[in-house]
Amino acid sequence: MEIKENISLRDLTTLKVGGEARYFCLVKNVKDLSQAREFAESKKLSILILGGGSNILIPDEGFFGLVIKIDFKGIEFVDKDESVRVISGAGENWDSLVEATIQKGFSGLENLSGIPGTVGATPVQNVGAYGVEVKNVINWVETFNLDNGEVKKFYNQDCQFGYRDSFFKTEDGKNLVITKVSYLLERNYQPKLAYKDLAVYFSDSKDPSLGEVRKAVLKIRADKFPDLKKVGTAGSFFKNPIVSQDKFNKLRKKYPDIPGFPVASSDFSSINHKLPTIKLSLAWILDKICGLKGKRDGQVGLFENQPLVLVNFGNATTDEVKGFSNSVKEKVFAQTGIKIDEEVRVI
Ligand code: EPU
Repeated sequence: MEIKENISLRDLTTLKVGGEARYFCLVKNVKDLSQAREFAESKKLSILILGGGSNILIPDEGFFGLVIKIDFKGIEFVDKDESVRVISGAGENWDSLVEATIQKGFSGLENLSGIPGTVGATPVQNVGAYGVEVKNVINWVETFNLDNGEVKKFYNQDCQFGYRDSFFKTEDGKNLVITKVSYLLERNYQPKLAYKDLAVYFSDSKDPSLGEVRKAVLKIRADKFPDLKKVGTAGSFFKNPIVSQDKFNKLRKKYPDIPGFPVASSDFSSINHKLPTIKLSLAWILDKICGLKGKRDGQVGLFENQPLVLVNFGNATTDEVKGFSNSVKEKVFAQTGIKIDEEVRVI
């Protein structure tokens, strides 16, 4: 395994901003990862783990440590009665994995078609789209501990999955590198079409096939997201805020059409109106309340078809992205009193 120096990170991210890595390496297996860890330890370097680079904001100054790009490959299918396990290396491209499972006729990942990035990133932020979150299908996650080199499996219930959240984002979980993920898929396919965009798409057709659902999701996404080949973007730049029922009621008095969705994991037997239980649509807020849809300032803007998506139109810097993002945050707070957070990982 080769350790390179002064490698530009800009083109290793889909936002296409950020400086250089002081040291950089590509790791294909646990042995490589152990060596990288020892190198960082010997030089007292901090480590940054990079997957597909589709959900990360790198500073203009770059990263003065060791950037490790995860390149663990391999997809394996294991039969298990009604269900099937697909075990994938963390460095596999996510959408290639989705496509491979659909070609074999296994269901579970079809609604998550077209999401950029690698397999290893999916548990970290509990990737979700079109009514499915990856926590619904994850069986276990294999990790490598950067502190002590230990390899450990985390079963689903130990991953502490939440909305765009997991144990791997916590202080205790941050030193874990995801090396492999096992997903539990079904042979008996039941289309999941409850999400509005899919329900509308299939309003005239009953029981679409797995392939048809994938096609629909790809089409819906293509209409909503900018082309990664043309502009820099990281998908949703902000999280949808989750507010209390009280806060939602207040907002609804002022904006009667504001959409809100109960968070799935809430315990409705003991509703506390002060706890955050209602997920708001930030796209709606940015569009209908703040008038920021398609708003552009220099090389940075919010996408015209989906304001949750921040776009680098050319040669924006990270500071410009941050400045623009802060102005969006301030505007949302001034209009609604809601503090929004980035969904992308800010380094
Ligand atoms: N809307 C507007 N104006 C717009 C666009 C949308 O008012 O210009 C409103 C509509 O009412 C729409 C609602 O916003 O129904 C919700 O929008 P959408 O269904 O497009 O989803 P989203 O909340 O913007 C989330 C995820 C996406 C995921 C989609 C589809 C987050 C932060 N984002 O977006 O995930 O693909 O749902 O399920 O949860 C990502 O995390 O990077 C990501 C792309």
